[in-house]
Amino acid sequence: MKNHLSQHKLPKHVAIIMDGNGRWATLKGLPRWEGHREGVKRVKEITEASAELGIEVLSLYAFSTENWSRPPEEIELLMMLLEEYLERELPTMMEHNIRLSAMGRLFRLPESTQKKLQETIEKTSKNTGMILNLALSYGGQAEITDACAKIAKEVKEGRLRIDEIDENTVKAHLYRPELPEVDLLIRTSGEIRLSNFMLWQNAYAEFYFTPVLWPDFRKGDLIKAILEYQSRERRFGGV
Ligand code: FPP
Repeated sequence: MKNHLSQHKLPKHVAIIMDGNGRWATLKGLPRWEGHREGVKRVKEITEASAELGIEVLSLYAFSTENWSRPPEEIELLMMLLEEYLERELPTMMEHNIRLSAMGRLFRLPESTQKKLQETIEKTSKNTGMILNLALSYGGQAEITDACAKIAKEVKEGRLRIDEIDENTVKAHLYRPELPEVDLLIRTSGEIRLSNFMLWQNAYAEFYFTPVLWPDFRKGDLIKAILEYQSRERRFGGV
């Protein structure tokens, strides 16, 4: 299938809203957590596939600021799955030369999760292949708000003048300013919305929506999304 993809028009940055774990489980008469557990398997599969295809950055919406309002047991389970995933997948990340990154209000995560995350980020920091960027306790509006606060602080401290502020200033104060803007945004499970995901970085992204639920989203579905991306013409506001 890889051969059908045009290598020179490969999206550099793919971002995915992994939606539909709960519905997948319910449809099968299983508890919601089974959907999340199956979802983690797809995180592994899609990460490896992306690295093999030559994607430079893969951003995954793993936990939103809004997800904090879910029942405490579900939050606990998601954090446990994340910690297990980080521990188990470290060898795979090393093998595929993947560098882990995270963005969001990470200080809100349980301490053990923060620790595991930092450890994995450090251990993979010398890898030079694909960046796997996990959005955790993340909200796009929160990110822009946090950037505004950092900029205001610099102005207050006399390190920045108001007339110097432009789009590059805002970009430089986002959580992960080193990452390029998103080229292809994928959302699974049939919902047609952005749900506060990477609002700034998605400004010129191509959107791809699929009814496939995240636990059913396989490598072939990723390739289908990239093929659709490659068939589109991007003009960035030009003609
Ligand atoms: C959406 O399904 C999915 C989430 C809220 C979390 C995504 C998390 C994972 C795939 C597992 C943990 C992540 C990593 C990186 C190991 P939903 O529960 O909103 O589904 P629903 O809309 O059908 O209820």
